[in-house]
Amino acid sequence: MFQNLSIGVFDSGVGGTTILKEILLLLPQENIIYYGDSGNAPYGEKSIEEIQNLCSKILDFFVKNRCKAVVIACNTATAAALDKLTEEYSIPIIGVITPGAKGAVKVTKNKKINVLATPFTVSSHCYIKELDKFSSSLSIFQEGCPELCPMIENGWELYPNREEVLKKHLSKLSKSADTLILGCTHYPIIENDIRKFFSGTIIDPAKETAMDLKELLKKKELLNSSRKKGSLDFFISGNIDSFRSIAEKFLGFSIKNIYSVEK
Ligand code: DGL
Repeated sequence: MFQNLSIGVFDSGVGGTTILKEILLLLPQENIIYYGDSGNAPYGEKSIEEIQNLCSKILDFFVKNRCKAVVIACNTATAAALDKLTEEYSIPIIGVITPGAKGAVKVTKNKKINVLATPFTVSSHCYIKELDKFSSSLSIFQEGCPELCPMIENGWELYPNREEVLKKHLSKLSKSADTLILGCTHYPIIENDIRKFFSGTIIDPAKETAMDLKELLKKKELLNSSRKKGSLDFFISGNIDSFRSIAEKFLGFSIKNIYSVEK
């Protein structure tokens, strides 16, 4: 019976759809509620208390909607709130930082890893701490990008200076690193442009996160065994039209069920 309940997936906006896309591919039978808190984006320049409060509100929403598990599809929210939410809620919760770090350690050959993320994620040092758990001999370089999340939320193509902004940030990272972690779930949306300034392997935590979710559901005996395609409902605290157009373009299908929630 619990197997039929929904999985809650959330982000500060449209970025979490990069995780959602992989979850839909790996677990098509699951029912999913996506919460995009675009009315409160960006999270990346807020204080830890502000981010934790926003996350608790979203967790309450998922609990009220009887979710069986939660994916924090946002690096900033994972860095700020995963531990606290895990302590406070009995529902199983996973984030995106462990999967991102795991993915990078698997592919790096020269053990030099770049991380592009929000200012909050960078200053939390969460990737450094997580990567250290997998290997102590890594060199890690980080760059915080305050502009990117808001530009992607508003519509990346609207900014004529977008490549200059990317170039400025990527030029501050290590030239010899062979791996780049996209440490903000918004960034895979602009991966083609990021590639113009980094020639090594780019790590998007989405696939690893979907696999971790499947493992977790299996372990808790919560996998939905239905043969039918699951439901997908979106709840957005900001502008629905703008969310819809960016998300549909990235996901490659049209969104049917989308609702407004108070921010
Ligand atoms: N997608 C969020 C992340 O992964 C963006 C954070 C923000 O809202 O600044 O960090």
